[in-house]
Amino acid sequence: MKSHISFVRELVKQGGPKPEHYDELNNKFSSIAKTIRNSSHPEHMISSIREALNDALTIETIQGYGFNKPFGYSGDFYMIDKIYQKHISPDDNLRNWDIYFHSQKAPIAVRNRKQYFLDLLDKIRSHNQSDTLQILNIACGPCRDVYEYLDTTKDKNIHFHCVDYDQNAIKYASNICEKYLDQITFYHKNALRFRSNIKFDVAWSAGLLDYFTDKQFKFMLKKLYSLVTQEGEVVVGNFHPDNPSRDYMEIVGDWYLNYRTEFDLIKLAKSAGFCLNNIRVGVEEEYVNLFLHIKCGKSFI
Ligand SMILES: C[S@@+](CC[C@H](N)C(=O)[O-])C[C@H]1O[C@@H](n2cnc3c(N)ncnc32)[C@H](O)[C@@H]1O
Repeated sequence: MKSHISFVRELVKQGGPKPEHYDELNNKFSSIAKTIRNSSHPEHMISSIREALNDALTIETIQGYGFNKPFGYSGDFYMIDKIYQKHISPDDNLRNWDIYFHSQKAPIAVRNRKQYFLDLLDKIRSHNQSDTLQILNIACGPCRDVYEYLDTTKDKNIHFHCVDYDQNAIKYASNICEKYLDQITFYHKNALRFRSNIKFDVAWSAGLLDYFTDKQFKFMLKKLYSLVTQEGEVVVGNFHPDNPSRDYMEIVGDWYLNYRTEFDLIKLAKSAGFCLNNIRVGVEEEYVNLFLHIKCGKSFI
């Protein structure tokens, strides 16, 4: 443990990890995580490693922003947008930590899930070129995905209904999507309490259900299903337990998720009352972020 902490201290002194250090640093985090999981008093070990990070754990770095949680919770809209925008600190002493952060599989998977949503929208649009599509985006965060869809496609025949319980997220997303506010309705609401008389073509949610218990997960799935049209689709993301960045996220970022496998997702969907023919699990390229699809009307097979 001492040698791991000295290694981190040395990297901090040198201005952060360079690509040639990544494997060793990742291995150290894995080894620390293993030790911590087997310890009855891990607090001291975790705080030693965080102390060693020093300035690299202030909000000037993305990992430090994640750890400090300025809005009070992990994975806020600003953090997610820093990931989408591949933000790098202007401070020469800290920038290598951000470059290291962006090389991790978890942020890559987050960027991939934005593309997954954009591809899903393109697919739905290609099957239905005439109707105005109504898209429900639960826990919308920064709405970088919504902005990119509207800005690249110039699709005027689509309306996004974006729900988030953080008013700061809605304000931030409204600024990003300023040019397209006539095609977006924001709802400042807890997803668990969201109701609507509108029937949506897609109900999408990423970066939310991995914070939910199984009970909340099933409740949300049934709620979203009740909100889509007869031909509509529910698509919800969840990180896989094999997330290679898990140890880094937990030790450095104090960022914990409820990880679920394909099997877990299918089991949950079945126990929420859905039939296997209507369930499919998709995945982005890194195999870190899974997507549970529930199709209404027609089945997947
Ligand atoms: C990790 S971000 C995901 C943002 C977006 N879906 C994306 O993938 O880019 C999570 C967002 O969920 C919101 N959130 C968390 N719990 C929520 C809840 N119970 N109801 C509504 N929004 C919630 C947070 O405010 C935050 O903006």
